[in-house]
Amino acid sequence: MNTLIAPSILTADFGNLHTVIEMINNSEADWVHLDIMDGVFVPNLSFGFPVIDSISKISGKPMDAHLMVVEPDNYIEKLQKLGVTLMTVHYEACPHLHRTIQSIKKAGMKAGVALNPHTPVTLLEEIIGDLDLVLIMSVNPGFGGQTFIESSCAKVAKLKALIESKNASALIEVDGGVNLETGKRLVESGANVLVAGNFVLASTDPIKTIAQLKTL
Ligand code: DX5
Ligand code: ZN
Repeated sequence: MNTLIAPSILTADFGNLHTVIEMINNSEADWVHLDIMDGVFVPNLSFGFPVIDSISKISGKPMDAHLMVVEPDNYIEKLQKLGVTLMTVHYEACPHLHRTIQSIKKAGMKAGVALNPHTPVTLLEEIIGDLDLVLIMSVNPGFGGQTFIESSCAKVAKLKALIESKNASALIEVDGGVNLETGKRLVESGANVLVAGNFVLASTDPIKTIAQLKTL
């Protein structure tokens, strides 16, 4: 399977959001990654429903929503109505994860679970068969432009082994500090989807950078 690329718009100039979305539309990106933060689960705020509404009207790529919020169940209906394709919630924010995943699917979206760097993949043993995607955080969530945590490659390999052992079909997405070098090692370890924020947006030619990531 070809590696899927999901550029994150977290570090975009929000005064020129349409320019960034058009760039992503014109690129080989597979999804657009939306980082939704509530200032509680993570020490940062990003954007909410009005901005997602604006993006949905101009994006030609499926919206991949990463919920860094407490009580993500409260967002399911609204995100579905805004056209989100895939909704990923944090394991650490969901005491009733099975119910949350079923609600996301019932709403017609694909369901993912994100793991913070300290959360082991073994905690997904009982639910992996229900998931469309697992998101391995390779930085602590909250900010773009952070340094890649090296142990993430081994974690991806462990997750791949878990998925295979359970005959499951969840995609493995990795988020944080992804560039051509870390991305290559992640794909070799079993990653299917790479999120890239700063590496794409701070590059001189973001469309070319996305094309380069696509070759990994
Ligand atoms: C961090 C977000 C990431 C972020 C990645 O909490 O989940 O999606 O935008 O940014 P980079 O690629 O710059 O590390
Ligand atoms: Zn993210």
